[in-house]
Amino acid sequence: MTTTHCPIVVLISGNGSNLQALIDASVHSNFKIAGVISNRPDAIGLERAQRDNIPTRVVDHSQFGSRKEFDLALLKSIEEFSPSLVVLAGFMRILGADFVNHFADRLINIHPSLLPKYPGIGTHQRAIDAGDKEHGVSVHFVTEETDGGPVIAQERVAIRSDDTAATLAARVLEKEHIIYPKVVSWFAAGRLRMAGNHALLDDEVLPPEGVQVGP
Ligand code: GRF
Repeated sequence: MTTTHCPIVVLISGNGSNLQALIDASVHSNFKIAGVISNRPDAIGLERAQRDNIPTRVVDHSQFGSRKEFDLALLKSIEEFSPSLVVLAGFMRILGADFVNHFADRLINIHPSLLPKYPGIGTHQRAIDAGDKEHGVSVHFVTEETDGGPVIAQERVAIRSDDTAATLAARVLEKEHIIYPKVVSWFAAGRLRMAGNHALLDDEVLPPEGVQVGP
């Protein structure tokens, strides 16, 4: 029996630890990382990809006069790899409506909060400041609304009384590395899709908080 591997493109801006988790998982999974693209030439994640002979590209946002031009160059760079899925993994640029609509239904993001709580940045400190008992990670389809698309999966992390943003972020990141390859493999298996403004797994519409992964 031949196994077909779903080609994905991963977009990064920095360290790329989620990229690394995807690289490691892809060895025994149903997806293949066709290419990695960074908007920053110095992203450490580029080295992670190169170590595994994964093709890399840089589309440096600072070299474009407008967001529209950057988005278009990025779109073209992605399409050269003909991916079935585009995976944002610590990609720190807001993408415009034309870009998002072009990749509609095949664009996912990982966000370090229990969405719809805390879209945007600084999520760990915001959860601590609010006195929350728990925090976590969400994977969601990307729509025009930043961090606002349908949630696919979440995992929760208890907040400790002595947590700083850094200690909490480290525990959330551990969960990110488990949940993201899992969601990508669901997509690669044809089990996950977006219809209307809903995420569906095995043809079941998921609840607003998505699948709850983990203990
Ligand atoms: C992760 O916390 C991710 O959820 C957020 O940015 C961080 C990226 O980390 N969007 P890394 O580059 O994957 O190590």
